[in-house]
Amino acid sequence: MDQKKNAWESNAEWWQNSFTNGANAEYSEQLLPLLVELMNGFQKVLEIGTGEGQIVRALSETSINAVGIDQSDKQIRHGKKTDPSSVLIRSLAEHLPFRDSFFDAAIACLVVEHIEQFEESFREVSRVVKRGGRFVLAMNHPLLQSPGSSWVEDWTTDPPEKYWRVGSYLREETSEEHFGDGVSIPFTHRPLSRYLNALNDSGFVTTRMLEPQPFPIQEEDLKWKNEIAFIPRLLLLVCEKSSGSK
Ligand SMILES: C[S@@+](CC[C@H](N)C(=O)[O-])C[C@H]1O[C@@H](n2cnc3c(N)ncnc32)[C@H](O)[C@@H]1O
Repeated sequence: MDQKKNAWESNAEWWQNSFTNGANAEYSEQLLPLLVELMNGFQKVLEIGTGEGQIVRALSETSINAVGIDQSDKQIRHGKKTDPSSVLIRSLAEHLPFRDSFFDAAIACLVVEHIEQFEESFREVSRVVKRGGRFVLAMNHPLLQSPGSSWVEDWTTDPPEKYWRVGSYLREETSEEHFGDGVSIPFTHRPLSRYLNALNDSGFVTTRMLEPQPFPIQEEDLKWKNEIAFIPRLLLLVCEKSSGSK
């Protein structure tokens, strides 16, 4: 098992405890409702890199038939324990175990940054999604959240200034993201053009781009409320499988 896959196995519990089942407000209040809304009208939906399946569960609460795949055995097993009716399958996003055009739509949420051969996974999603179907790609905002991006407080000015520094946007690199408690996960930053071009090359046309306001704004951030509210953390690309593609 390589380093990236191992990180998701060994940190499976951390992910489950910190980000699922209502533990993380950005998910429960913002991302899950948004993804459900974006899948409205689609019947068979695939989620690649489903983790323990919280998005699949949210979709399944509507009339959608959702299927999740993930490389991590622990995530899949935990998800099936949480909801035995969830359809969760252990698989790589680069080799999907489904026939062509099986799904009406697909989602990749906060996973593409962890997939080395991400172009291969886009080609696979394109293969299993019907023409006219939808692919929603949700990721850390590649432009505004590139490694090294952060708030900078400048106390040499009066009054002190706070501004957003953008890291080395064009440098494509894999670095370890540290979350404390000894948890670190490899994360690959790529410029936005890499994703848009790969989507296009695999037969997807981007029809909407969403940049949700960061959520939630903490009490202690209120003095910086304006600045914080205007730097997006997430980017969602809503794509359509073009009618000209296979
Ligand atoms: C940040 S979690 C996101 C989980 C889920 N999409 C969510 O938003 O709740 C990323 C997941 O992607 C999975 N993953 C990473 N690379 C993958 C690959 N090549 N194929 C399938 N799953 C992958 C990891 O195992 C992990 O569970």
